Amino acid sequence: MKIPICMLPLTLMLLALSHISCVVAEEREQQMNKTYIIRMDKSKMPASFGDDHFQWYGSSLKSVSKSADVLYTYRTIIHGFSTRLTAEEAELLEKQTGVVSVLRELRYELHTTRTPEFLGITFARNEAIFPTSDKISRVVIGLIDTGVWPEIKSYDDKGLGPVPKTWKGKCEEGTNFNSSSCNRKLVGARFFPKGYEASMGQPIDERVESRSPRDDSGHGTHTSTTAAGSAVPGASLFGYASGTARGMATQARVATYKACWFGGCYSSDIIAAMDKAVEDGVNILSLSIGGTRYHNYYTDAMAIGAFSAMAKGIFVSGSAGNRGPAKGSLSHNAPWITTVGAGTLDRDFPAYVSLGNRKKYRGISIYAGPSLSCGLLPLVYAGNASNSIDGDLCSLDSLIPGKVAGKIVVCDKGITYNSEKSAVVKKAGGLGMILANTKAYGEEVVADSYLLPTVVVGQKAGDAIKRYIASHDNPKATFDFGKTQLGVEPSPVVAAFSSRGPNLISPTVLKPDLIAPGVNILAGWSGAVPPSGFYEDTRRVSFNIISGTSMSCPHVSGLAALLKAAHPKWSPAAVKSALMTTSYTTYKNGKPLKDIATRNAATPFDYGAGHVDPVAALDPGLVYDLGVEDYLSFLCALNYTTRDIKILTHIDFTCDSSKNYRAGDLNYPSFAVSLNTSSGNRGAGTKIYTRTLTNVGTPGTYKVSVSALSPSVKIWVEPKSLSFAQAYEKKMYTVTFVTSAMPSGTKSFANLEWSDGKHIVSSPIAISWF
Ligand SMILES: *[C@@H]1O[C@H](CO)[C@@H](O)[C@H](O)[C@H]1NC(C)=O
Ligand SMILES: *[C@@H]1O[C@H](CO)[C@@H](O)[C@H](O)[C@H]1NC(C)=O
Ligand SMILES: *[C@@H]1O[C@H](CO)[C@@H](O)[C@H](O)[C@H]1NC(C)=O
Ligand SMILES: *[C@@H]1O[C@H](CO)[C@@H](O)[C@H](O)[C@H]1NC(C)=O
Ligand SMILES: *[C@@H]1O[C@H](CO)[C@@H](O)[C@H](O)[C@H]1NC(C)=O
Repeated sequence: MKIPICMLPLTLMLLALSHISCVVAEEREQQMNKTYIIRMDKSKMPASFGDDHFQWYGSSLKSVSKSADVLYTYRTIIHGFSTRLTAEEAELLEKQTGVVSVLRELRYELHTTRTPEFLGITFARNEAIFPTSDKISRVVIGLIDTGVWPEIKSYDDKGLGPVPKTWKGKCEEGTNFNSSSCNRKLVGARFFPKGYEASMGQPIDERVESRSPRDDSGHGTHTSTTAAGSAVPGASLFGYASGTARGMATQARVATYKACWFGGCYSSDIIAAMDKAVEDGVNILSLSIGGTRYHNYYTDAMAIGAFSAMAKGIFVSGSAGNRGPAKGSLSHNAPWITTVGAGTLDRDFPAYVSLGNRKKYRGISIYAGPSLSCGLLPLVYAGNASNSIDGDLCSLDSLIPGKVAGKIVVCDKGITYNSEKSAVVKKAGGLGMILANTKAYGEEVVADSYLLPTVVVGQKAGDAIKRYIASHDNPKATFDFGKTQLGVEPSPVVAAFSSRGPNLISPTVLKPDLIAPGVNILAGWSGAVPPSGFYEDTRRVSFNIISGTSMSCPHVSGLAALLKAAHPKWSPAAVKSALMTTSYTTYKNGKPLKDIATRNAATPFDYGAGHVDPVAALDPGLVYDLGVEDYLSFLCALNYTTRDIKILTHIDFTCDSSKNYRAGDLNYPSFAVSLNTSSGNRGAGTKIYTRTLTNVGTPGTYKVSVSALSPSVKIWVEPKSLSFAQAYEKKMYTVTFVTSAMPSGTKSFANLEWSDGKHIVSSPIAISWF
């Protein structure tokens, strides 16, 4: 295509204009107040303040701004405070003695009954190997989320003993929430609104949003009951997914830290929430929120908070994000976090579209109202019945009632929420909706609850239905709704939305770490929100079915609680290692797990070590352990300065310049090798990674095997056999990768296994040429 010459100056002009508007915006930005998180070095506090660092913080702040108030002071995971400052004041403050860093606040987002059976933790034969209720009830799972709806049965504390003596949490009161909202299941509930309110420039309107730990969105109730909800028999959503709804660790305790509001989750609130959670004494921290707007660990509030939590022995799990299947789309890339992607269950809610040409297509639906009247109804494509066809089909008020009334309407999936589209169709007089996936969603059909009869279909069926409409004068269709179907194969498959590797921050750390159920999950719900999430829907439910890595993360948090109870001495890294090295990457028939986005075999960049297998994780044989020292060496290998390290880890540490730190030596339970094809050798060369295994089983000898690889890589392991004479004994080995020059974009995968005949300690290997 030829670009007309006249376009060029215009483009240049636009560039120039945008430059000018940038400069203007920058100036305006300079004068505006923004929230900053200020890190202070306590050792630099002048003696005149005695022991009162709050006064010291206040006086440092006063020296740059007369009017600024402290939003929060932080004292557990970091030392410092947050406040509103102009850019100029922030710069001044950064120069004060004792100030380690001044970090602009970031906004993070939410990563929005059959799972225990699917994971194999409710079978009677397994009950005995799981920790007794006495041990597990000492474990507290903290969630940074949208709060809880405490009245639902999932928070019933029947049969639970007294709250652990070491627990220091509280039940904070606020809108519609008082101390009697907590009990022996929900042992803590706090809320953190200050950063959000400061950023909004006004207090929370309590008629709209509860200024308390009460959950007005459903997300926090869903995640916390997935992790540790009490068993509730007879749960379902309108009869779908019926059965006993229960969390992964039914005897563990829940503490909620509400830092997410209708407008998002702000890092000054998140850090305050993590600070309190660690101080209160949580054992597990579950983060179904994330963001990607940082390029280093030391600018990511969640990585910073998680480091201090890990250093105190707390297991931190985070959702991988819902930006898949795009590559490099992960949240929570730090190695001290367990990063969880999402897979499907073996459960489906089938529904069928029958057309006038007698063809029938399978889709999915959760619909509870009256069915369609019998017989075929007229069918229309929304693209031919809308006021405007540029925008998202079936968005608010876009349909022409005269063209859709009395008909079934085909809408394309898009930006508008699925359930909101059903409301738009209903309002325009439509009788039913077919929601068709476009290329972006492929064959992944996710359930939502709808306001009129709806069937969601994959792209292929959607295209066929649209072709039928286009080629027939009088197109017609009808629906059949099926029952909940179990035993669906293949399952699990990696969800298309689940964020993928590689890890753009540290390519030698493979992420995500593993996957867990995250598609069409039934769990507890808020009484403030209809199941469709759409305000015109007046229905209220105690359970809802939703999808996201937000749902898979608390599965792993609950399972980590079980492991922690069974093995109280294990470090967070040991728990993670056990979960990863026992994960599976094939179906029972030996075929590799699939990725729904490509319909082909998934890779470690999609599922990390594989799908979690909690029963196997209880007895992994060996673990790859890691502690604070190991992570510090890793940060040295990333060339972090003493200041970067201090900001991130809260530790004074200087890398030893005589040491050759190698990022690949971090004792991680997986291997990632990243090769630069722009360098002189075009990716050819030798890399050596060392690893140390710790025996957490019985004495024995383990032999190594590496699955076949492509000719582009050779792998040697030395030694080939490791003998462990006693518990907690450590043995080291090295892996040598000899790679050839390959075109950029080439990937190669393998698997490294240590086995004593009884245990298999399995690690994925991902090699990529960039
Ligand atoms: C910044 O905040 C301070 C104190 O809250 C206030 O006095 C000042 O007017 C604010 N400045 C701007 C530009 O909003
Ligand atoms: C607050 O506590 C009282 C009992 O002291 C209880 O009756 C009431 O329902 C509670 N309110 C809420 C909103 O939890
Ligand atoms: C939409 O209308 C156009 C023009 O009438 C027609 O060519 C096209 O086939 C219609 N598409 C569908 C899906 O009905
Ligand atoms: C760190 O610096 C060393 C020496 O300059 C360099 O060889 C290495 O590639 C750097 N590592 C990273 C991760 O940037
Ligand atoms: C890859 O190699 C090129 C050429 O030596 C170098 O300029 C570039 O920084 C390297 N990229 C990375 C990420 O190390």
